[in-house]
Amino acid sequence: MLRNKRGLILGVANEFSLAAFISAKAHAAGADLGFNFLPDASSRGAKAEKRVRRVTDPLRPEFVFPCDLTSDESIDIFFTALQREWQHFDFMVHSVAWAPLADILCRTTDVSRAGFREAMDISVYSFLTAARRAAELMPRGGSIMTLSYYGGEKVVAGYNLMGVCKAALESAVRYASSELGPRGIRVNAISAGPVKTLSASAVGATGDSGGIDDMMRLHQLVSPLRRNITGGDVGDVACWLASDHAAAITGELIHADAGYNIMGGAPPDLHG
Ligand SMILES: NC(=O)c1ccc[n+]([C@@H]2O[C@H](COP(=O)([O-])OP(=O)(O)OC[C@H]3O[C@@H](n4cnc5c(N)ncnc54)[C@H](O)[C@@H]3O)[C@@H](O)[C@H]2O)c1
Repeated sequence: MLRNKRGLILGVANEFSLAAFISAKAHAAGADLGFNFLPDASSRGAKAEKRVRRVTDPLRPEFVFPCDLTSDESIDIFFTALQREWQHFDFMVHSVAWAPLADILCRTTDVSRAGFREAMDISVYSFLTAARRAAELMPRGGSIMTLSYYGGEKVVAGYNLMGVCKAALESAVRYASSELGPRGIRVNAISAGPVKTLSASAVGATGDSGGIDDMMRLHQLVSPLRRNITGGDVGDVACWLASDHAAAITGELIHADAGYNIMGGAPPDLHG
């Protein structure tokens, strides 16, 4: 499905990352891939790079370069290096989010100004700036996608500040889609159900909700398919969005959530 396509994957942290599952599926579908890793200041990036390479090396990546998406300088160096490898590429996956733990665990009305700025910068602005740089290298059109969650549409206990970020991210997808569409570049978001990853474990961990485990328990009980989703499910949707089979799809929020988002209440079997 992705033979002769080059894809940039931003956001592999380890083997549990959604980006890792997307990468495995994209590789199996024939894509040539390039990656970033988030440089870790304390160890000059060596630890982070090692963790990421454990995931990416089997996929024979065309490059794995450092990129901190909060730094214009780092983004500049990254895309300059990328352009030396690829004069153009076909799709980009943005699978990046972060917020200070204290600002996720507190009530949304108690979020600090600094925490809000940081969360929006990493989780939303990083998407817009990466989309701009990627679009410059997609002269023949392309596909850009990001990862969102239902907590951007409705209140999900414990998701708090990250829900505010996801609402902004989903809006950013629509504006970017409208701006880049005339150049043949499609922009979409995948709204994935809960999956246990490094980032997901932070959500609601000690807050009012039981965190990711509670979210997954509820998902299994309420979703029409009565199951949780897998990273592989998300990877399949990402490959479809990157492929020519989704040529008419842009500006969309595609739910890969076993149908959870359509439910307005508990299903009858939950009432006993
Ligand atoms: N896991 C879930 O349940 C779930 C559900 C829906 C959506 N998502 C979204 O999927 C995306 C990926 O998350 P994940 O669950 O795979 O967790 P993850 O922790 O594996 O991935 C988050 C990634 O963001 C990267 N990152 C953070 N700050 C960065 C920076 N300054 N510069 C560059 N990269 C940076 C991290 O290095 C990491 O690779 C996120 O947007 C997340 O909100 C996750």
